[in-house]
Amino acid sequence: MQLDLIATSTFGLEAVLARELEGLGYAATITQTGRVEFSGDALAVARTNLWLRTADRVQIRVGRHAAADFEALFDGVYALPWEQWIARDAEFPVAGRSVKSSLTSVPALQRAVKKAIVEKLRSAYHTSTLPETGARVAVEVSVLEDVATLTIDTSGDGLHKRGYRDLTGAAPLRETLAAGLVLLSFWKRDRPLIDPFCGSGTICIEAAMIGRNIAPGLQRSFAAECWPTFDADAWGLALEEARDARSAPLAERILGNDLDENELSMARRHASRAGVEQDIHFQRRAFAELASSRSYGCIVTNPPYGVRLEQRRDVRALYESIPRVFAGLPTWSFFVLTSWPDFERVVGRRAERRRKLYNAQIECTYYQFHGPRPPRPVVAVGEDNLA
Ligand SMILES: C[S@@+](CC[C@H](N)C(=O)[O-])C[C@H]1O[C@@H](n2cnc3c(N)ncnc32)[C@H](O)[C@@H]1O
Repeated sequence: MQLDLIATSTFGLEAVLARELEGLGYAATITQTGRVEFSGDALAVARTNLWLRTADRVQIRVGRHAAADFEALFDGVYALPWEQWIARDAEFPVAGRSVKSSLTSVPALQRAVKKAIVEKLRSAYHTSTLPETGARVAVEVSVLEDVATLTIDTSGDGLHKRGYRDLTGAAPLRETLAAGLVLLSFWKRDRPLIDPFCGSGTICIEAAMIGRNIAPGLQRSFAAECWPTFDADAWGLALEEARDARSAPLAERILGNDLDENELSMARRHASRAGVEQDIHFQRRAFAELASSRSYGCIVTNPPYGVRLEQRRDVRALYESIPRVFAGLPTWSFFVLTSWPDFERVVGRRAERRRKLYNAQIECTYYQFHGPRPPRPVVAVGEDNLA
């Protein structure tokens, strides 16, 4: 059965998420900020939950209808085939939001939708009681310009929860954002990569998982896995595919540097839990000492931002040292996420690309300074005909 599916993301990552979906074989359309729509079957739900690195969650759209008043909302919700998704004993909380619509009270929206689903299920299951003791099917009603969209969440915990992070560093990046930074960079598994401010290692670990084609959801479970209404074979198949897809350790180890030993030990622990400890070398090193004998590498990093006033002087001094350090890596490309307002002026260089992104609630820019293209590998005579 073809389903209308929605992958959600944070602001700014929609295009990367759409590209990820296309890479998995699903035609994707960005419909709103943070929403990318596609269609697929139960296997698509399992695959996208397992594989999407920048999505927050994957939802099934159960229906969409005009809802300028409560009666229209109730009737439209009642008409949908809820019994197809919500088992007789399932727990089904309803969350809501309303934007530019006549129905403005979110609690009232939630109550109306809950009531309509309850009535529909009672009628479908010929029962007066719905115990809500079983697997959770979280419903969301979103009313935008008087059109209600009803979705159910297939992911459960947000997809940033890969399962490898059990300790929290001082200012860790969300795994989905870290993966997005890597996917927006030029990095490929055969190029050098350094994060000189690696903290608890999120960028390095996400990059290693990308480089080794490790599905980010391999170590966790998903809400729809527990639904008796959902095609159970889909999960088994998608898991098997993902296990088989993993490639050999990286030939070129990723480097993660930081000043803080506590952060580094957390990074090592997380890398080991993610199964990529052999792909990354974490070392205590000050940014001022950053150097490499390798060429055409990428720096992908999230330095301190100096958000607190007392840190600003130190952070400015750190940023002022960036041009000298980058000058020592003339063939490299630099990708830096920061909220520092005049970052390009401090670095003395215009970025080739800039992208607005949010790290938690902080508005940041992802500055992309492109280095020269690496030379094409020399192909031995006759070899190009063998592929
Ligand atoms: C914003 S945090 C990075 C967080 C990281 N992306 C993560 O996901 O955990 C910045 C890091 O820079 C480190 N740092 C600050 N000054 C440094 C310096 N001069 N050289 C190297 N690391 C430094 C801090 O110890 C901190 O871990």
